[in-house]
Amino acid sequence: MTKITAAITAVGGYVPKFVLTNKMLEGMVETNDEWIVSRTGIKERRILKPEEGEGTSYMAIKAANELIEKRDLDPTEIDLVIVATATPDNMVASTAAFVAAKIGAKNAFAYDLLAACSSFLFGMSTAASYIQSGRYKKVLLIGADKMSSIIDYTDRTTCIIFGDGAGAALFEPNEEGLGLQDEYLRSDGNGRQFLGMDAGGSIMPATEETVKNRKHYIYQDGRTVFKFAVSNMADVAEKIMQRNNLQESDVAWLVPHQANKRIIDATANRMGLDSSKVLMNIHRYGNTTSATLPLLLADFEGQLKKGDNLVFAAFGGGFTWGSIYLKWAYN
Ligand code: UT7
Repeated sequence: MTKITAAITAVGGYVPKFVLTNKMLEGMVETNDEWIVSRTGIKERRILKPEEGEGTSYMAIKAANELIEKRDLDPTEIDLVIVATATPDNMVASTAAFVAAKIGAKNAFAYDLLAACSSFLFGMSTAASYIQSGRYKKVLLIGADKMSSIIDYTDRTTCIIFGDGAGAALFEPNEEGLGLQDEYLRSDGNGRQFLGMDAGGSIMPATEETVKNRKHYIYQDGRTVFKFAVSNMADVAEKIMQRNNLQESDVAWLVPHQANKRIIDATANRMGLDSSKVLMNIHRYGNTTSATLPLLLADFEGQLKKGDNLVFAAFGGGFTWGSIYLKWAYN
């Protein structure tokens, strides 16, 4: 019997219209374009304004609809919709269920998946497992985040980094051995003190105090997170290469989480990869959390060739991190 692998067969992406530039941030907090570019590689990011649309689902639906149109897909054939996100529309009702309803995936079940900046990477593992098991034939994985909804625009250590966006990928069975080949996924909950949001969860429900004390915004100990991100992302990417006997010349593309250009460069260096093989759009979108990986696929789709070896790597809050080796399935 032919082994069934799980391939990505279509992608879509969406970023909101409003562009928040470094120059504009200079008027909001004490920072400057030179600092932001040299420390992070970010030049601008997109923000979802209420006049354009509301909530993470707005962008997720746009990305999914682009995929559906491009692929000429009948949405009633989708079995499962997963929305990877750290900023769901609503703390209780599934954002994925709303997205599925709006895109016409009326035969699908749907749920959200939360693993901070590794949400999409971990979602790839989930989507691929359903396909490989033979249980489902079409799994739509969407990474979407409206980071602007949890950012304090008076805090220069976080507001310069994050942006809003969404990307989608369709997973289907493949009999040519293409798609997901291997994964190495990790987490360490001791890291949660360094990156998160104090209030609004079950430990610290919302009160007047929490609002007054600005506890509903994301915080991060940037330097510590940076240290962990640099070493862990490089470690897992190297491990995936070693485990699959991949030389630098075998890897067509590194698809790295877009948190900081210096973290991406360190990972590429450890892999021995030339910068021409590194997918990057951090200068345009900043860190869109769950959307960085699928937005890269959507932006660079035209350059990816059937059979190309892609190495994905991500690191995020929790801590969560990992790497996936995938063979691209179409031209
Ligand atoms: O995706 C989830 C995972 N997140 C990450 O991977 C983020 C990891 N961390 C980072 O990317 C970096 O740590 C940051 C970009 C957040 C910060 O860069 P850094 O090189 O680690 O800077 P730092 O925090 O060590 O700060 C250096 C200096 C400090 O001033 P002093 O103490 O040296 O006087 C900061 O106060 O830069 C100052 N600073 C700023 N200056 C201008 C911090 N933020 C800013 C700013 N503009 N926006």
